[in-house]
Amino acid sequence: MSTESDKPRQNPTGRVTTSGDIEVTTYLEIAKEKSGVQPSLATPPIPAAEREVIVVLDFGSQYSLLIARRIRECNVYSELLPFDTPWEKIAALNPKGIIMSGGPSSVYEPGAPLAPSYIYEGRLPVLGICYGMQAMTHQLGGRVISVTKREYGHAVLHVSDRHSPLFAGLDESLTVWMSHGDSIETMPPGFRALAQTENTPDAAIGNDKGMFGIQFHPEVIHTPQGKEILKNFAYNICGCKGNWTIGNFINENIAIIRETVGKGKVIAALSGGVDSAVVASLLHKAIGNQLTCIFVNNGLLRREEVERTFNVFRLNMGMNIIYVDATDRFLDSLKGVTDPEQKRKNIGLEFISIFEEEANKLGKVDFLAQGTLYPDVIESASSGSSASAKIKTHHNVGGLPAKMRLKLIEPLRYLFKDEVRKVGIELGLPEEMVWRQPFPGPGLAIRCIGEVTREKLEILRSADFIFMNEIKKAKLYRQLWQSFTVLTDVRSVGVMGDHRTYGYLVGIRAVTSEDAMTADWARLPYDVLARISNRIVNEVPEVNRVVYDITSKPPSTIEWE
Ligand code: XMP
Repeated sequence: MSTESDKPRQNPTGRVTTSGDIEVTTYLEIAKEKSGVQPSLATPPIPAAEREVIVVLDFGSQYSLLIARRIRECNVYSELLPFDTPWEKIAALNPKGIIMSGGPSSVYEPGAPLAPSYIYEGRLPVLGICYGMQAMTHQLGGRVISVTKREYGHAVLHVSDRHSPLFAGLDESLTVWMSHGDSIETMPPGFRALAQTENTPDAAIGNDKGMFGIQFHPEVIHTPQGKEILKNFAYNICGCKGNWTIGNFINENIAIIRETVGKGKVIAALSGGVDSAVVASLLHKAIGNQLTCIFVNNGLLRREEVERTFNVFRLNMGMNIIYVDATDRFLDSLKGVTDPEQKRKNIGLEFISIFEEEANKLGKVDFLAQGTLYPDVIESASSGSSASAKIKTHHNVGGLPAKMRLKLIEPLRYLFKDEVRKVGIELGLPEEMVWRQPFPGPGLAIRCIGEVTREKLEILRSADFIFMNEIKKAKLYRQLWQSFTVLTDVRSVGVMGDHRTYGYLVGIRAVTSEDAMTADWARLPYDVLARISNRIVNEVPEVNRVVYDITSKPPSTIEWE
């Protein structure tokens, strides 16, 4: 039912749309054409009959993706599919069980999404979570009603059926997280209550046919033993053993990439970021020199970034890299530009034309490799645009494939960020690169308020270098989602020795976040802040004042522009 937390994600359908004026063939489609089956890129290289997959049917909860993620943390591969996915598509994945997610609807309202009939035919074990349980109840002849005693937040769950495999090995009393205003009034025939909270007598239910329902959300961190409950479902009820590992993922994908690419040529844009680095390494391992990476230095990178990226890929890994120093072109395109969106636009266009020019020099290229991740796939499938995209246009290399008529290879499109990091480590990428904080495509241009000039970029680089150095020295780097310096267009009066100064104001920003949709300013220790400020004003002569940004997102955004 509608709750604050189960905010609707628009149109929970699973179709991935591709932008641009031509149909872009995806990696999956190519592989499907070749093998005649729909491969799942992240399934382990083991016989299909032993493949362990749990499908999550999405009824629109903002936590749906989190369920799949938690299941994968239990070493069982999981995919999120729309609630009305036809059986043929489900069967192709050969799943061991199905989870029905929560959602914003009320089952008794007209048009509420309901589960397909195969769910109730006893083909597979099923776990309904929140709305998923209510749909199960409603469709199997029970009754769900709106209750006056709504439950939001923490609740204490008392497990009354101590023999239920769902709660095996767990305490009799558990803290769980609730978010619902509808409850079961009457259970469907054949079901019994397994656990209760003070306000919800049927907080967990089950029957003898492998169907289970829970009113609380095991996928959120506020249910501390939630992962154990999901693991119990996967292992005790669906019979999984946990054979999905990153090593399996890599081996399987190397084989798929080789088969897909054949003798073809692949290009990839290298940015130094985690995703593009992992894609490049995986492809390099699979097809060696058939991969060429194009690394465009836009003159908007941080100090030592170019050298570091280049060293890892060219010197350590022996990768084929075309390095283009396009600083002049980018800075020319930014002359006189102060509007943040215009900066993004100019940088994006410049990038596409340089990338295209370089690719053309290579002759016939067949594929473009991109570091698209699973959340991006789900996001574009469900809404086509994110809320943040309306505030800022987060340019990446989105315009490239359609313009260049290349087939896409996206080997990470079924992975979450933490899984991508594990792949990177397993492939031997340096920790520093794998754990790099996100860095925006337009780089320092959107951290240099007002017009971007060489002089301002150098000041910003110097200040940022000190800031990052101190953050790393204080061992805070990994705890922070992002930490960076902003050069404002403001000047202020200061005094140094006996002299008056009139220097730049620098802003420093450090935030914690799960996914960049929301963020909190980090409570950096005062002594670290003091050292940073002291060093910046002493070592960067153009700067005489440092301020710490103590706003969260919302209402601010992470970047200043
Ligand atoms: P905001 O500033 O919108 O940022 O809170 C959210 C996340 O997105 C990054 N960001 C960008 N990334 N191109 C990118 O590739 C962009 O134009 C861009 N603008 C913001 C930002 O660093 C943060 O991680």
